Amino acid sequence: MKKTILVTGGTGFIGSHTTVELQNAGYDVVIVDNLSNSKADVVDGIEKITGIRPAFEKVDCCDKAGLEAVFQKYPDISGIIHFAASKAVGESVEKPLLYYYNNLVSLINLLELMPKYGVKGIIFSSSCTVYGQPAPENLPVTEQAPIQKAESPYGNTKQINEEIIQDYVKSGAPIGAILLRYFNPIGAHPTAIIGEMPNGVPANLIPYLTQTAIGIRKELTVFGDDYDTPDGSCIRDFIYVVDLAKAHVCAMARILDGKLAEPVEVYNVGTGHGVSVFELINTFEKCTGVKLNYKVGPRRPGDIEKVWGNVDKANKVLGWKAVHTLEEALSSAWKWQQKLRADGIM
Ligand code: WQD
Repeated sequence: MKKTILVTGGTGFIGSHTTVELQNAGYDVVIVDNLSNSKADVVDGIEKITGIRPAFEKVDCCDKAGLEAVFQKYPDISGIIHFAASKAVGESVEKPLLYYYNNLVSLINLLELMPKYGVKGIIFSSSCTVYGQPAPENLPVTEQAPIQKAESPYGNTKQINEEIIQDYVKSGAPIGAILLRYFNPIGAHPTAIIGEMPNGVPANLIPYLTQTAIGIRKELTVFGDDYDTPDGSCIRDFIYVVDLAKAHVCAMARILDGKLAEPVEVYNVGTGHGVSVFELINTFEKCTGVKLNYKVGPRRPGDIEKVWGNVDKANKVLGWKAVHTLEEALSSAWKWQQKLRADGIM
């Protein structure tokens, strides 16, 4: 009997790639998304890749009645992967209440409905943002590293959501949870049928970089080259989105197979390698043959100088490891950007 997984935010960047991998692993998937930052035709793309059309319900997770109707319509939901959230760091500074309301109420609604409908577990999409700027001696950062004051309301909602889950489980809620702390997800599905589709001017590096490479943007600005790093640019742990998606499949199996060692487990999901912005640009140019037009500008307020993950726990306990190279991830991002151009989308 196939198990059904509810994927909130499933038409989004990471949610859609995770839906593909869940289907590949034999799960049925119900996507819930309010389409505030994605398009319904992503469901067609998922079906094109896997041959299986996921169920799709256009529902806002902050609408508790609408969300409950989904649990009533799909009584076999065994687990939830919760991606649906507002996620733009800069916007969260301008509109904090929108972020606190959307990102906290959506999770609380799900947690309240889980026991009522016998849903065993939840995977929460968290972020390395919770670590802030780790102390140099704490790099690569492990799950035991101190949680530091968030630099933005967006990052704070990730921290608060983790605490909400911890406290709810501690209160005796009959559920298990896994918190996955992502580093920097990049790239697109190798078929170039789904990928990252930011609304408007991209805030994140890779979509801005590929849009510059294809001529949509005039030039990329590197936000600062005077950091305390080997080449002066920031360092990040860039992880291929398909590797990240597969980590969710491992985590869901661990929950549903009753293998949790504690009611809430936390894992870093990254490659374990730090790459600087300049190194990434050079790698992009080398693996695509495209010369990138960029300049160095001032630092971006709130940017972390350097962060990359210690991923030993995910490798050893979750049985998951990132297997794709930066070159493969960047090539997939470029192939996706070229497909969007070929399809007249951008
Ligand atoms: C990466 C590096 C920039 C754009 C955030 C969130 C994280 C996750 C991903 C949502 C930084 C530099 C960027 C540009 C640049 N959340 N950069 N020029 O800030 O590491 O992580 O987004 O999905 O939780 O914190 O990602 O891609 O914005 O920046 O030089 O035009 O690229 O300074 O060093 P970030 P990013």
